[in-house]
Amino acid sequence: MLVNATNMLLKARDGHYAVGQFNINNLEWTKSILLTAQELNSPVILGVSEGAGKYMTGFKTVAAMVKAMDESLGITVPVALHLDHGTYEGAKACVAAGFTSIMFDGSHYDIEENVAKTTELVALAHDHGLSIEAEVGSIGGEEDGVIGMGEVADPAQCAMISSLGIDFLAAGIGNIHGKYPANWKGLDFDALDKIHAATNNIPLVLHGGTGIPDDMIKKAISLGVSKINVNTECQLSFADATRKYIEAGKDVQGKGYDPRKLLAPGAEAIKATVREKIALFGSANKA
Ligand code: 13P
Repeated sequence: MLVNATNMLLKARDGHYAVGQFNINNLEWTKSILLTAQELNSPVILGVSEGAGKYMTGFKTVAAMVKAMDESLGITVPVALHLDHGTYEGAKACVAAGFTSIMFDGSHYDIEENVAKTTELVALAHDHGLSIEAEVGSIGGEEDGVIGMGEVADPAQCAMISSLGIDFLAAGIGNIHGKYPANWKGLDFDALDKIHAATNNIPLVLHGGTGIPDDMIKKAISLGVSKINVNTECQLSFADATRKYIEAGKDVQGKGYDPRKLLAPGAEAIKATVREKIALFGSANKA
């Protein structure tokens, strides 16, 4: 069931668990994530970066595929189709394409411009029934060409952006996209605490979910994080399972080269990762 992400995240906030945003890249990714959310009776958010949107030939294709697949698979759990790290233009395009949720990442603008553009997009998103996420303090690392320095967000700026009517807020607390370096200092819980106190209990979003230790994930949820984004970890699981299949020579045995066979171990590996995350985030049976 395609919905916006507002209610599922308010429920998560009040129930002290988090909903996973799993980024999609193609049909296999989408199918694995939808089937696993349904199996575990969990709400889920499908994240689409602008790069992944382009790869799938555009946001319209993505929206049409997700809507049709949601119906064909008989998915009854709440599913939000969400733009990840959207530009101003990308956010508008996703509203027109039929997404149910957008993120506008204005963290690289100065705060006045971030406020102005976020305000405009809040009105547009809400007019069309979409939920909207905004960002303060960039997430470290690189995702699909979006590079962030990994700043810790200023609570006063978080308060300013969260008062614009957005539905959930991404605030940098030392989190990084991609793999964490060995010398990573961990999440800044003191900053998270201050941001939570300054933002009127708005659901908070933790980006860079890959590789954060379980105890830090649980602590972040206890301090107001209601949405956790995972992208790289599904890519690593998929690549690992596919490599093993090919290294075992299975693609040259019988019809092992059939894409439905070749991609099956990777698709199963994505399911296993999503299952693990849903259990850790506590969203199973919360649909
Ligand atoms: P990872 O790639 O580190 O899991 O981060 C995902 C993310 O934050 C998407 O916005």
